[in-house]
Amino acid sequence: MSGDSARIPTLEDLGDVTGRRVLVRTDFNVPLEERAGSQFVVDDFRIRAALPTISWLLERGAQVVCASHLGRPKGQPVDRYSMDPVRNRLAELAPGVELLENLRFSPGEEANDDAFVATLLEGIDFYVNDAFGASHRAHASIVGPPKSLPSAMGRLLQQEVEVLTGLRDKPKRPFVAVLGGAKISDKLGVVEALLAVVDQLVIGGAMCFTFFAAQGKPIGDSLFEPDMVDTCRRILETAGDKIVLPDDMVGVDAAGEFATFGTRLPEGSKGFDIGPGSAAAFSDVVMDARMVFWNGPMGMFEDERFAGGTRTVAEAMAETKAFTVVGGGDSAAALAQFRLDDEVDHVSTGGGASLELLELGDLPGLAALRGAPNA
Ligand code: 3PG
Repeated sequence: MSGDSARIPTLEDLGDVTGRRVLVRTDFNVPLEERAGSQFVVDDFRIRAALPTISWLLERGAQVVCASHLGRPKGQPVDRYSMDPVRNRLAELAPGVELLENLRFSPGEEANDDAFVATLLEGIDFYVNDAFGASHRAHASIVGPPKSLPSAMGRLLQQEVEVLTGLRDKPKRPFVAVLGGAKISDKLGVVEALLAVVDQLVIGGAMCFTFFAAQGKPIGDSLFEPDMVDTCRRILETAGDKIVLPDDMVGVDAAGEFATFGTRLPEGSKGFDIGPGSAAAFSDVVMDARMVFWNGPMGMFEDERFAGGTRTVAEAMAETKAFTVVGGGDSAAALAQFRLDDEVDHVSTGGGASLELLELGDLPGLAALRGAPNA
C-alpha cells in the first residue's frame, strides 16, 4: 500500500539534532473558551499528544520551534484565533519551546506558497511533521519543508499511521466499523473503502435516515440528505448483510414530546438518537468483534435525552476485548464526555485525516515526507 510507514523517515533518521533548530508542525487546533475576557484551552489532548516528539528532540539538545494552524481565519490575522492561549498551555507542558503565530494568518499557508515556506524555514535545520490531524491538507507547512530539508514524521504521526493503516491492511476478524454523524455525504468515500475490508458496518446517527429513506420508510421530519438517497440504495444493494441499521429510534413526536419509534417515523416527528434496542444490538456487535473502528456519534449526545445510543456504544468500546480505534472529532469528544477516553486502544487526533487515511491509504503530508532529501 502507498501509505506504508516504512519508507517515511522517522526521528532517528534526522541524525544529530544537538544545537540545531527543528521546526515541528503540530496540530494544535484545539477548542478554546473565553473566561473573564481571555481565551483558554478547554481540551489539551492534541497538545499533550505532541509531547513525546517534543521531549525526544529536547532531550537530544535540539531547539524546538512548533507551528500550527488554529481555526479557519482565512489568510488574515483574527484576534480570536491567536496562538496565545495555546502558547500558554504549551509553556506549562513543555517549557522552552517556541510556538509561531497561527500559520493560517498568512494566505501563503493554504495556498501552499513556496515563498511562505521559505520564510517558515529561515534559520531552521530540520523539519518534523507531527500534525496528523492536518496531514490531509496539502498546505505549505505540511508539504513544503520536506522538499528542501531533512525531515521526519514525529512519534504521534507515526503511531496514527501505524494504527490506521493496520486496520486496513491487517484486520483482525470480525472487524467492525461503527459510523455515525449527520451526513452520509461526508463519509461516502470511507464507507465504500470500509465495506471492502470490514465484516460488519454499523450505521447510526442522523445518516441512518437517508438509509431509511432509501428503503422507502417514512422518516417524519428527521434530518436526511435527499441527494444521497439513490447512493444509499446502491450501497444497501451491494453491501447486503454487511450493513447493520438501527431498528428503533428515539426523538420527539409532532408535539415536541420525547418519543420512542420503530424505523417508520410518524409525520411531524424527528429522530435524534438510536433507540435502546438498537444500542444494545450495536453493543453486542462491538463486544463480539476483534477489531473495531468507531467514527461519529449515534445521536445528539450533547442533549442528555439523546445521549443513550452514543453512551452505550462508547461503553461497549471500553469493555470489548477487541482492538479499539476511535476517529477524532465528535466521537473522541463523546468518549471524553463519558470519561472513557483512557479505555480504548487508540483515540485518533485527526477527524478528517483519519477518514482520508482509511479511505485512500495515504495523505499529502505522508507523500511529502517520502520525498524528503533524507528519505
Ligand atoms: C482538524 O481539526 O480536523 C484539523 O486541525 C484540520 O483542520 P481543518 O479542517 O480546518 O483543516
